[in-house]
Parts: sequence; C-alpha cells; structure tokens
Amino acid sequence: MRENYEPDLAYIHHVGFDSFARGAVPFIVENVRRFGNGGRRVVDLGCGSGLLARQLVRRGFDVTGIDQSCAMISIARGQAPGARFVCGSFLDVDLPGCDAVTSTGECLNYLFDGRVSRRALKQLFRRVYACLDPGGLFIFDVAEPGRGMGPAQRHFEGGDWSILLTIDENRKTSTLTRRIVTFRKAGKLYRRTMETHRLKLYRSSALAGDLRSIGFRVRTVRRYGRMDLHPGHVGFVARKAR
Ligand SMILES: C[S@@+](CC[C@H](N)C(=O)[O-])C[C@H]1O[C@@H](n2cnc3c(N)ncnc32)[C@H](O)[C@@H]1O
Repeated sequence: MRENYEPDLAYIHHVGFDSFARGAVPFIVENVRRFGNGGRRVVDLGCGSGLLARQLVRRGFDVTGIDQSCAMISIARGQAPGARFVCGSFLDVDLPGCDAVTSTGECLNYLFDGRVSRRALKQLFRRVYACLDPGGLFIFDVAEPGRGMGPAQRHFEGGDWSILLTIDENRKTSTLTRRIVTFRKAGKLYRRTMETHRLKLYRSSALAGDLRSIGFRVRTVRRYGRMDLHPGHVGFVARKAR
C-alpha cells in the first residue's frame, strides 16, 4: 500500500485542517453517552493526527486509533499519549472489543489501500459489528457523488505552510481526485511536496443498506451537532442491537 499523508501534509492537516475533527467531538461524545451502551472504549478508524483521540481521552474515554499514515500516527502519539495507536490499514488491523467505532473526515473513501471498495467496506462493517459490544455505536462520515462540486482549484495558507488543491470529480467512475501541492517552511526556504489522493464516492443509501443488512440500526445526518457537513458529505450513526 502506498503511504500518503506524508510528514509535511500530515503536519499541515494537523495545524490547518483540524476544525472538522474538533467540530465532531461534541456530537460523538453526546451520542456515545446518550445512545450508546454506557461503555467508554472507542476505536477511531483513520484517526489521523489524533485530534479526536485527544479530546476523547480528556473526557475519560479509552481510545485506540488506526491510520495508514505513520506520519499522522507519529503526531497522534504526541497529541494523545493516553491513547494507543496502530499504523496500518483499517482493512488489516485487528479491531479490539469496544463500545464505539468512529471515523471522521471521509477516511473510508480513500483509495490509498487499493483493496478499498464497497464490498471491502461491507466486510469492514461486519468486523465493526463483531467488535462492538451490544448497544455499541458506529459513527462515521463519507463523501458521496457531488462532493467535488465547487471551485476546481483552492488555496489555503497558514503561518509556515501553504497548500494548493486541484479537485476533479469523475461522475462516471464516482471517484474524486485531489492533487495536492504543499509548501512548508524549512529554515528560510519552503519545501515543496506533492500528493495525489483518490477517493471512491458512495451513495449514502447504498451504505445504509449494507449496514442494515448486517444488523445495524442506521440514521444518516447532514450535521454533526452544530457543525454542518459539506455538500456531498453524509454522516452515519449506526447502532448494534442490544
Ligand atoms: C482527511 S484525514 C482525516 C483524519 C482524522 N480522522 C480527522 O478527522 O482529522 C483521512 C485519514 O484517513 C486515513 N486513511 C485513509 N485510508 C486509510 C486506510 N485504508 N486505513 C487507515 N487509515 C486510512 C488517512 O491516512 C488520513 O489520516
């Protein structure tokens, strides 16, 4: 599997694109507390730099984070020393028994692991169902067709970084390609790196059907609490029966 979110993009995601994971925290905590089974063990798939893990640990949760980017995992270990982190694909890493599984930021769409497909996700959903205790929750979000709408080129910058994005959605193949050029300050100069991310886009109705066929009760959301999801971005709250 090709590694992505290498050190410069992992750093930029951590410092400049943290608002989504932070914004999801109240929604996840409230759902796990109100509608979950009362347990506190959370597994975060595609945990990135540990933004969610850090907030969950601070609120007394016991967190295991899984991410294919070892650069992300390295930041996460510094961010949330009380959590456990594993570098690997969520298709491979054993899922420990838990009370909730989370995945924020379209992680399940990424094609970094070339085996990812709707069929592979259904198999992942089965593994999630099996690792959850009765009454446990699976809260995640995915990009749907239409996620690539809007300007094809975007630019963001922070104090010591800048990023250029070129976005292309292929409606026929339901894939989204993001070509990413990063500039990160290194001494007096800026280092340039490039990554290309390909995402498979899934219809929420299809994934909801897959989850239900496994036994989950499912609701889809367009907001995480007060935070609107982006157009073409849908959240799932799936519950294993007691
Ligand atoms: C947009 S980032 C979101 C990170 C974090 N969840 C957040 O909300 O800030 C997507 C993450 O999914 C991870 N990812 C993508 N495919 C993966 C796979 N097959 N296994 C594990 N992690 C994966 C990437 O490495 C990246 O850290």
